[in-house]
Amino acid sequence: MSSLFSLLLSILLLSPKPSTAFLPRAKLTTSDPQKPQNFHPRSHSQSPSPTKFFEVTRPISKPSSNCLSPSSPTISPANLRHAPTATRYSPPFCLPPRLRRALGHPPRSSAGPSTCSAASRPTSIFGVWLSGVELLRSCTAEPRPDPGIAWTVEKDITRYSSLLSHPQTLAVYVGNLVDKTYTGIYHVNLSIEFYFGEPNKPKMPNVAPGFNSPADLVMPVSRPLPLNDGQWFEVQNSADLQTSEVLFPKNVYRAVLEVYVSFHQNDEFWYTNPPNEYIEKNNISLAGNGAFREVVVSLDGSVVGAVWPFTVIYTGGVNPLLWRPITGIGSFDLPSYDIEITPFLERVLDGKKHVLGFGVSDALDVWYVDANLHLWLDSRSKKTVGELIKYTAPQIELSLISKFNGLDGRFDTVVKREISATGWVKSSYGKITTHFFQTFDFKNYMEFKGNGSDQIVNQTIDFNHGVYAKHPSSVVYSEQVFQNFPLYLYTGTSDQVNDTYSLVSNVTLGFNEKKFSGEKFGFASSNLRNLQNAQGSMHVKGNLVTGGLGSTQQVYKYEGTDGCYFRNVSSRNYTVLYDESGGSCTERLGYF
Ligand SMILES: *[C@@H]1O[C@H](CO)[C@@H](O)[C@H](O)[C@H]1NC(C)=O
Ligand SMILES: *[C@@H]1O[C@H](CO)[C@@H](O)[C@H](O)[C@H]1NC(C)=O
Ligand SMILES: *[C@@H]1O[C@H](CO)[C@@H](O)[C@H](O)[C@H]1NC(C)=O
Ligand SMILES: *[C@@H]1O[C@H](CO)[C@@H](O)[C@H](O)[C@H]1NC(C)=O
Ligand SMILES: *[C@@H]1O[C@H](CO)[C@@H](O)[C@H](O)[C@H]1NC(C)=O
Ligand SMILES: *[C@@H]1O[C@H](CO)[C@@H](O)[C@H](O)[C@H]1NC(C)=O
Ligand SMILES: *[C@@H]1O[C@H](CO)[C@@H](O)[C@H](O)[C@H]1NC(C)=O
Ligand SMILES: *[C@@H]1O[C@H](CO)[C@@H](O)[C@H](O)[C@H]1NC(C)=O
Repeated sequence: MSSLFSLLLSILLLSPKPSTAFLPRAKLTTSDPQKPQNFHPRSHSQSPSPTKFFEVTRPISKPSSNCLSPSSPTISPANLRHAPTATRYSPPFCLPPRLRRALGHPPRSSAGPSTCSAASRPTSIFGVWLSGVELLRSCTAEPRPDPGIAWTVEKDITRYSSLLSHPQTLAVYVGNLVDKTYTGIYHVNLSIEFYFGEPNKPKMPNVAPGFNSPADLVMPVSRPLPLNDGQWFEVQNSADLQTSEVLFPKNVYRAVLEVYVSFHQNDEFWYTNPPNEYIEKNNISLAGNGAFREVVVSLDGSVVGAVWPFTVIYTGGVNPLLWRPITGIGSFDLPSYDIEITPFLERVLDGKKHVLGFGVSDALDVWYVDANLHLWLDSRSKKTVGELIKYTAPQIELSLISKFNGLDGRFDTVVKREISATGWVKSSYGKITTHFFQTFDFKNYMEFKGNGSDQIVNQTIDFNHGVYAKHPSSVVYSEQVFQNFPLYLYTGTSDQVNDTYSLVSNVTLGFNEKKFSGEKFGFASSNLRNLQNAQGSMHVKGNLVTGGLGSTQQVYKYEGTDGCYFRNVSSRNYTVLYDESGGSCTERLGYF
């Protein structure tokens, strides 16, 4: 079926509050002393346009015919306080009835609207869930007193299409936006656009069943409403295993667990955390537990996959002046991570409940984790059978070399892991054997200089994963993803007198991804190189940024069999210095 669904979220912050920014070692509030703090939404039409924040990403290629029903959910204006705002989603009338049936599955869970109560969270992370299935995890932009701020997040949600044909509860939760002192009102419009017709994509050959269409059923693995906060699970320490019982239908022939992850408070900058030994010997108060974290996903106690997450820097992170108006990679649309659990289906096709578990190694308070279970069902049989043939998930191999003398020192952390599983599932499509693998490499070099006033972190995560499916006609389908996340972070503190100091920071953050998929290796392929360089300085008094400068340069290059995109953009203190973009595959790109 050639259809595409996109989620469009436009947000306008009209009544701002000074926002809290988070630094590796300090928590700050930004404000612009020259500008009035009290901004009246009614006078908005006389004011200059709000600053438009944006995350650099490639536009979604949409087929021609569009269906955006007036019955699409809108939360406008919404004063999103501390509890999720729940609303009813109804499929639009312009969705052809035939398609509704083809897409349709009865809703599995529904929940009433939740109550508003105050449970303050120090980060402005937010999520959007449809019947508990997370559609988007995002971060609010840094508020600006005048003229206010606005931004839009657009996401292709085609993979959740089975949910969209029936009325559902749509929940939006925004953390810590409103407190007693500041009453910022976020006006949020959320719409789902439906497109039918040929998307601008090359036709895939007759690929293995389950690999050429979105799942028949998407089940939530999250906390149910009503809640006072997000539907994610909160992992607070390394011993904290969050679990969820799941009942799999008996006729599943493919299953993928999509994991959403974000890290906050003491672990917002987990990759800058030194080993505890350094903290204890120096008797200082810093977030510790070292610089390595992994999210481990288990099924009935067996590790089925891991996530070594991309180091998203939220809009107020490191130096809030860096992310205006270009925001950090992934900060408006946090990446999710897929774990193929098809090889393990043998264990869950018995019609009994099974336990999915989420833990984070060496976690400090707090990690927000939840997942969506994408299931492909055999429409021609009530029961499939499977067998796990091979499975290996040895412990991580971690090496840490520590050298320090007082507050200065160096730490080298190197970690490796491999997880793989092979199993077959017999359905009316025949006996399909699926092999899933993940290989991970982590390198973190950390240095403290100047009696602890300067910190350098140079880190790389390589996260490779793939699936091979062999089906009866001896066709092999494969998907391989090679992800590489470089990060360089320098922070230098100087002129510290009482609670006043200056901070210089440099950031290099990259998200690189190569993908290959198809029946013949390399049939469809893409290569993304997305790199941000940012430099900033700021003067801080107490928790307030009293002045400074932030500059960011970003180059985004995507080349794929489905098209190309290029953007070269730079900003300095709210001003875009240059912005060049193109969609032609012949320009500037030279991959493959
Ligand atoms: C939300 O939609 C309404 C009605 O279409 C419009 O007036 C308003 O400006 C929109 N707000 C945002 C933040 O896009
Ligand atoms: C560690 O620091 C705390 C507070 O700064 C102080 O009260 C305590 O005496 C120190 N301990 C040692 C062993 O120096
Ligand atoms: C380094 O910092 C510590 C703690 O702030 C201080 O006690 C010490 O005197 C400093 N050492 C030097 C050489 O400045
Ligand atoms: C970070 O480390 C890598 C080697 O692991 C090195 O090639 C690179 O130059 C370093 N980056 C910086 C900015 O020091
Ligand atoms: C720092 O604090 C001390 C004690 O409160 C005060 O005497 C001193 O004047 C302050 N220094 C500055 C530069 O504000
Ligand atoms: C930080 O960035 C500035 C400007 O690009 C550069 O001059 C400086 O050498 C960088 N410092 C470090 C430690 O990365
Ligand atoms: C950049 O913005 C900061 C904070 O608003 C301000 O203090 C600084 O003067 C600005 N610098 C320039 C060069 O515009
Ligand atoms: C991006 O644009 C700047 C300014 O025009 C230019 O100096 C730089 O070389 C460009 N980078 C790329 C990768 O095209």
